[in-house]
Amino acid sequence: MNDKKNVFTQMNGEFSGNDQFQKEGADFFNPEGFKQLVNARRSVRKFTTEKIPDHIVEECLDLALLAPNSSNLQTWEFYRIKNEVIKKRIVYACFSQPAAATATELIVCVARGELWRVHTKQMLDFFKTLPVETPKSALLYYSKLIPLVYTVGFLNILTPVKWLFNNIVGLFRVVPREPITTFGLDVRAIKSCALACENLMLAFRAHGYDTCPMEGFDSARVKRVLGLPRRAKIVMIVGAGKRAEGGLYGPRVRFPREQFVKTI
Ligand SMILES: Cc1cc2nc3c(=O)[nH]c(=O)nc-3n(C[C@H](O)[C@H](O)[C@H](O)COP(=O)(O)O)c2cc1C
Repeated sequence: MNDKKNVFTQMNGEFSGNDQFQKEGADFFNPEGFKQLVNARRSVRKFTTEKIPDHIVEECLDLALLAPNSSNLQTWEFYRIKNEVIKKRIVYACFSQPAAATATELIVCVARGELWRVHTKQMLDFFKTLPVETPKSALLYYSKLIPLVYTVGFLNILTPVKWLFNNIVGLFRVVPREPITTFGLDVRAIKSCALACENLMLAFRAHGYDTCPMEGFDSARVKRVLGLPRRAKIVMIVGAGKRAEGGLYGPRVRFPREQFVKTI
């Protein structure tokens, strides 16, 4: 048993010949600005007809894509609905709720867990384009470990084997318990997509616009409209626009922090 020697402890950032990236973001410091931004984001259900400039929407989407995500596999998609006919159908699928019906922008945020294999290959191909040598640990991670952990087989045929392996070997050492099913793979993709959604909403707020995340929709209808496969998971639909009078349904409510924050 040697928990110290595993893929995580062996991995490092030695992209030899180029360590400039080590300083990325290190000098940023704006706690007050961040606090104001987080406090300013509210779920707004009514928007004016004022359009959000195109470049701002695109920038907010770019910022969404910078969210942390599982193994950097980016198994997500964001559908900005510009086509009016499609928009009407999506609004209908959102039960015509005001947050969708009055939004000048509708973005359908989708987790695509099944794309892990394609994106793993894309990452390996990307490494080949770098002018510097890719650390061996990174190559091993994407070429061996990810396929080993993520492969669940057709109709989850490997699930019992993986479950048994984890439960027996897990008695003696640390093992990756999930994912062992396609559902587990999708959960991973959903987590990452949700983080991107928060980036998206904060980005809109930072530009002076508001949003409402929605899970009140008929997912089968939305998928049909967008031509998405059954396996795709619609994480939320984000409506955005300029806040209208009465757009907030009430003051912010949060239960006591002691209920949620546990210091151990
Ligand atoms: C995943 C998710 C789904 C939501 N779905 C809806 C929705 O369908 N319709 C709606 O009006 N608000 C929806 N909301 C907004 C929540 O009601 C709102 O975030 C919550 O009441 C807290 O308010 P706040 O966002 O202003 O802090 C959703 C929020 C999340 C995170």
